[in-house]
Amino acid sequence: MAIIGTDTARAAAHLKAGELVAIPTETVYGLAANALDVAAVANIFAVKARPSFDPLILHIADWRDLATYVTALPPQALVLATAFWPGPLTMVFPKREIVPDLVTAGLPSVAVRMPSHPMALTLLQELDFPLAAPSANPFGYVSPTTAAHVAKQLGDKIPYILDGGPCEVGLESTIVSFATAVPTVLRKGGLALEAIFEALGQEIAVQTHSNSKPSAPGMLAQHYAPEVPFRLGSYLGRDASSAKAYLVFGPDMPTTEPHVYNLSPKADMAEAARNLFAIMRQLDQANYQEIVAQLLPEQGLGAAINDRLRRAASRG
Ligand code: TXA
Ligand code: MG
Repeated sequence: MAIIGTDTARAAAHLKAGELVAIPTETVYGLAANALDVAAVANIFAVKARPSFDPLILHIADWRDLATYVTALPPQALVLATAFWPGPLTMVFPKREIVPDLVTAGLPSVAVRMPSHPMALTLLQELDFPLAAPSANPFGYVSPTTAAHVAKQLGDKIPYILDGGPCEVGLESTIVSFATAVPTVLRKGGLALEAIFEALGQEIAVQTHSNSKPSAPGMLAQHYAPEVPFRLGSYLGRDASSAKAYLVFGPDMPTTEPHVYNLSPKADMAEAARNLFAIMRQLDQANYQEIVAQLLPEQGLGAAINDRLRRAASRG
């Protein structure tokens, strides 16, 4: 079983030995390995049961490291890095040869992010290599936002889980690609699109995902799925049965009714984001036969939360 602790030096020692360590970030917990060590990266795919066509994000602690791994840094990317790094933003660039093909699933581009969690930054500063880290969950399942979530699913497969407490953001990073013809948002996430558009002074394209386009890796419509059947719907008043759980949001919805789970009674999107994955896991482990989730207003982090709810509800 993995040891759970707060010792970044110990985490660094495991990583230097080519082993995997689960690390806290402000978005979700990551399953990290030395990104330049192909055997270690291969182990990430094995432990997650992740298909090798789904590329990984490179985590760095200093954005000047970018020059080592990417060939071009467009001015707009510099604007976003300055405004939002460290933080819940990943950017995709044409890659340099030093980045192993396994990390990028053979793509000529690489995704890079600088996390803001202090423990992640301390750890990265102790290392002379970047960390490849997908979310620390079995492929297709809800991302982990606590060390306990990681331990439950991957604890018997890795030596160490670095415990940085519950994730502050609770949604995976927003991904913007600069390797596409025009800058394109590939994944809505913990940084609201409005903030990105404001920093750039313009709107940019937003990609919609599909199940049939392998050229858009990781953008599968069905993802983030609990095991209990999950669908979108509204809470229409007390339900006599206890077979259904309702995921709701805002002050017009119950806060104390049994089987109704309010992501944020005060309609705070950041609070809802922080709670979302932990509640989805909790409901998946209770004895419900169905989970019914209500969409949030499609703005700010609500758009990213809705993306996760829609994908959890998608059946292929
Ligand atoms: O917040 C996060 O981003 C977390 C923490 C641990 O940093 N990581 C995360 O990783 O969510 P993962 O592997 O679960 O999701 C990474 C996504 C995948 O959908 C993958 O397809 C996409 O990033 N991606 C990675 N490299 C890419 C590339 N070169 N081009 C397009 N998409 C890429
Ligand atoms: Mg993931």
